[in-house]
Amino acid sequence: MEVIIRPDAAAAVDLVSRLIQACIRRSPATVLGLATGRTMEQLYAHLVASGVSFRQCTSFNLDEYIGLPAEHPQSYRHYMHQHLFSRTDFQLHNTHVPEGDAADLSRAAQRYEEKIKSVGGIDLQLLGIGEAGHIGFNEPLSAIMSRTRDKCLTPTTRRQNAAMFGGNPELVPKRALTMGVGTILEAREIILLATGHSKSAVIAKAVEGPITSMISASALQLHPDCKVVVDEAAATDLQGREYYDFVFANEPQWAAFRK
Ligand code: GLP
Repeated sequence: MEVIIRPDAAAAVDLVSRLIQACIRRSPATVLGLATGRTMEQLYAHLVASGVSFRQCTSFNLDEYIGLPAEHPQSYRHYMHQHLFSRTDFQLHNTHVPEGDAADLSRAAQRYEEKIKSVGGIDLQLLGIGEAGHIGFNEPLSAIMSRTRDKCLTPTTRRQNAAMFGGNPELVPKRALTMGVGTILEAREIILLATGHSKSAVIAKAVEGPITSMISASALQLHPDCKVVVDEAAATDLQGREYYDFVFANEPQWAAFRK
């Protein structure tokens, strides 16, 4: 794992955007794992403005609320359409979001796993982090080997996401269909982006705490190619930042990204 701390949210977003652009320019047919949430809105705006071509890319979103049809304004399919798919040359038939409104959710979950395998797996998985420590919607006690499945959301997550439902946590669906922690860990490369003070405690737990299913993001410590990009505010509780900053300032692979 590498931790990169940028001065503010805009610089953290800029760095992640440039990492994604570099990956797509190297391999235009990249299979991307995509995330949702407010943090990603800035990143998607940056990618749209960059003009990078997604024409040959395939994408798999991490999760979807259960019970919301794709066209529902709060569905993650709708979110992706609004922030990225309709604003770039992404080919819609190459974009995938779990079917939260499927009649048979376990069958839909299995189909999702099979589809990921059929395109050769995810090359680059993008992640945010929830205040409950989740990646995707892998709430506390999600097995580190879990696969795509439906999951009951925590009250913390429903409160955190209430803003998108008119501020009322009761309107946030109670369940979601999400890639598992094990599914996420199979991506070849992972980038987690987190900004703001509200994420500082959970980032410290995920990066420097013990690996525990109580904080599903801590499982990323097992991954051989995972970058955690944060701003100063989200880095507040990290103990090891002298070393993280030293690596970013000195390792040759970061030379082009230091600015
Ligand atoms: C939702 C998504 C997560 C995402 C989180 C972060 O809960 N399911 O994948 O990491 O939002 O949200 P935000 O960026 O709004 O803090």
